[in-house]
Amino acid sequence: MKKETILIIGANGQIGSVLTETLRESLGRDKVIATDIKKPTEETGPFELLDILDKAQLHKLIRKYKVRQIYHLAAILSAKGEQNPKMAWDVNMVGLFNVLELAKEEKLKVFFPSSIAVFGSHTPQQNTPQETILQPETVYGISKVSGELWCQYYFNKYGVDVRSVRYPGIIGYQSMPGGGTTDYAVEIFHYAVQGIPYTCFLKSDTELPMLYMEDAIKATLEVMDCASDKLSVRTSYNLAGMSFTPAQLGDAIKKWIPQFELSYEPDFRQEIAEGWPGSIDDQVARKDWGWQPAFDLEKMTKDMIQKLGKKYRKENVFA
Ligand code: NAD
Ligand code: SER
Repeated sequence: MKKETILIIGANGQIGSVLTETLRESLGRDKVIATDIKKPTEETGPFELLDILDKAQLHKLIRKYKVRQIYHLAAILSAKGEQNPKMAWDVNMVGLFNVLELAKEEKLKVFFPSSIAVFGSHTPQQNTPQETILQPETVYGISKVSGELWCQYYFNKYGVDVRSVRYPGIIGYQSMPGGGTTDYAVEIFHYAVQGIPYTCFLKSDTELPMLYMEDAIKATLEVMDCASDKLSVRTSYNLAGMSFTPAQLGDAIKKWIPQFELSYEPDFRQEIAEGWPGSIDDQVARKDWGWQPAFDLEKMTKDMIQKLGKKYRKENVFA
């Protein structure tokens, strides 16, 4: 990877905090400028406050730090977005436009994360193909489909080198999720490891595609590192890791923590989840840039329980 200065927008979030640390460890702390609308709890390198709706401030930071690449992670996710659709649209769309416009002007390379939320109830629900019906039913999904198309437009019309993957629900021990429909799959581990019963906000049989954080970071860096002429998709690549229901995840956790108690009280997020696929066909990413996830349900569950067990000083889970 070339040591170009990178700016991360939304660096304090579930993915941003892990991506920032990974990039800092590989490129050097000063090469990675973290930005967010709120201050981080701990600064591990350069940090600047930035509201993505403030294009002038973004431009100032790009010039100040001689930025060459932007990882644009700031967004309002699916569940939060349904509670304030106008704000979600503004942050997700105006924010992306500010990034794309400045990338065009300053000739920057960009990463834009899309989501399984681009799919809807008309989409084939199993092994959802790369090219398929995109009629999402949430404002978040609408903003991600529109975002993908604008990324492709800026690439075709202006040569902006913007790359994207459609993340499934991301699971990691390092950080907490920020208002999505897949958040249960992280929360459940924190409860299980502390010995607290968990009430899931989705029904027991709601299958969704998920990806472990290590794999998500790997995919992000691989797609950004890939030779441009190998990338056949300039909207966003399908990406898969594993698929499971809350009941299957509960069973996987009970193999390590047999006394774990799981119950269900579905809320408004159930309807969002029902519009999303159960599994994803990611063969185009595999063919174009060699994508291959390392974690399945069993491996992810073991790693989450081990890492969180240490965090909550419950190493005896494995005794
Ligand atoms: P998150 O909600 O945890 O983090 C988003 C960050 O953006 C937060 O730190 C927040 O403070 C910041 N932010 C919000 N509004 C902002 C603004 N106006 N200006 C600047 N910063 C602002 O989200 P995440 O889970 O880390 O997701 C990162 C990206 O990946 C998002 O684009 C999301 O749509 C996408 N994605 C995430 C998942 C997932 O499961 N986490 C799945 C699919 C796609
Ligand atoms: N994990 C995200 C959400 O639930 C998917 O983009 O909103």
